[in-house]
Amino acid sequence: MDEAIDIKKAIQQHAEMERFFTGDFTLRAPEATVSAYEGSMDTNQECDPKKELADIARQVSVCTLCEELARTRKHTVPGEGDPQARLVFVGEAPGADEDARGRPFVGRAGQLLTKIILAMGLKREDVFICNTLKCRPPGNRDPKPDEKRNCGPFLQRQLEAIRPEIIVALGSHAAKSLLEVDLPIGRIRGRFHEYYFSPDLPPVKLMPTYHPAYLLRNYSQDNRRRVWDDMQKVMSELGLEAPKGKQA
Ligand code: URA
Repeated sequence: MDEAIDIKKAIQQHAEMERFFTGDFTLRAPEATVSAYEGSMDTNQECDPKKELADIARQVSVCTLCEELARTRKHTVPGEGDPQARLVFVGEAPGADEDARGRPFVGRAGQLLTKIILAMGLKREDVFICNTLKCRPPGNRDPKPDEKRNCGPFLQRQLEAIRPEIIVALGSHAAKSLLEVDLPIGRIRGRFHEYYFSPDLPPVKLMPTYHPAYLLRNYSQDNRRRVWDDMQKVMSELGLEAPKGKQA
């Protein structure tokens, strides 16, 4: 009897996971991102997240700290989304599609990320999406340590401006940069870690998970289940329920 219940539960979980990744979620193109980047720097001590993000984006657009990236990029990709998002996704670095359009996660990996966000009961414009690097490394090579160092303060300021409740680090580059640890993603994913905006503020929860591009390359049931489990933990923490009929 118990065995029958277990099997039924396993089948249900499998079906839910399949829907999570293959559901017929409409991929809504997010509204223009530029709106998040209008305005100018607030001179008040209290920072206006929208203005601060706009200011960061402007500084990123003229940044030449990484000579090679500044020379080879078509566009900078600062990030986009709700300046007051409760949830921020941080990826690695823009790829060719993102470089061409100046927007994060708009290629194949981005479509999978959009699907995951929709399955969580959210829309892209409800969250903030950005990367550890704001420029594309040529040929999509890995970010170099000095590039991460140069770009780190932009990401840190973005997170400090938004002050989300949860950060999802997509892949090892994001997780290692934010947590300053050098452990494989498989060792740190699946549980919440603490991210400190500053020593004066309480930490927020950071969930490392597999990068959507990794998932596309290794589209096994186990990997999909792992990401699905990680996102469920995030949803539960935010009090989110998956949309009806698209139960994640
Ligand atoms: N991969 C990333 O890490 N970031 C993007 O914006 C796109 C693909």
